[in-house]
Amino acid sequence: MKSKIRSFIAIHLPEELITQISGLQDRLKAMKGDIRWVHPEAMHLTLKFLGDIDSGQIEAIFAEMEKACKTVTPFECSVQGAGVFPDMKRPRVLWLGIEGPEPLIRLIRTLNDSLLSLGFEPEERKSHPHLTLGRVRSLQGTEPVIRALMNSGFAGSAFTVRSLFLMKSDLKPSGPEYTIIKSIQL
Ligand code: 2AM
Repeated sequence: MKSKIRSFIAIHLPEELITQISGLQDRLKAMKGDIRWVHPEAMHLTLKFLGDIDSGQIEAIFAEMEKACKTVTPFECSVQGAGVFPDMKRPRVLWLGIEGPEPLIRLIRTLNDSLLSLGFEPEERKSHPHLTLGRVRSLQGTEPVIRALMNSGFAGSAFTVRSLFLMKSDLKPSGPEYTIIKSIQL
C-alpha cells in the first residue's frame, strides 16, 4: 500500500517576524489561558491545504506550483490585525492577519484553479490567509487572552515573499511536525 503524505503549500516567515510574534505569544502565554500555542518556529502562511496525497502526485503538484509562481514576482507582505475562528462566541483558533496584497490573493487563486485539474477541490470556507497563534483547549481563562490579543495592535515588520514551499505535516502527539518537500522561487 502506498503511503499518504499530509501536505500543504505555504510561505515561510523571516526570523525577525518570528521573534516579534514570539514576543506577543509570550505576553499572552503569561495570562495562563487554556490554549495550545503554536511553536513560533513552526508558524507559516498556508496558501493551499492539500490533505493526504500520494508521493506519486508530488511532481505534478510541483509543476502546477511552478506555473503559478511564474505569474507573480516577489512581493511584500505584512502581518497585521488579529482575530478568532470561527467567532468570538466559540473561539477555537487565535490568529494574526496578513495584509493581503494583490499578488498573494492572485497566487492563492491561481493555485486553487490549477490544482483543481489534479482533483484538489478549493476550500468550501472562504479563504482567509492567517497565521495560527494558538488553539483553544477550553474556555478556561481564554477570554482575557483574546481581549489582549485583539487590543495588542500587533503589526510585524513587512517582509518580501520570494519562495513557495510544498510542505509535509506529520501529526505527532506533541503537535504537528512540518518538513519541506520542495521549494520554488517566485
Ligand atoms: P491552520 O493553521 O488554520 O490550522 C497544516 O495543517 C496547515 O494547513 C496549517 O497552516 C493549517 O491551517 C492549514 N489548513 C488549511 N486547511 C486545513 C484543513 N482543512 N485541515 C487542516 N489544516 C488545514
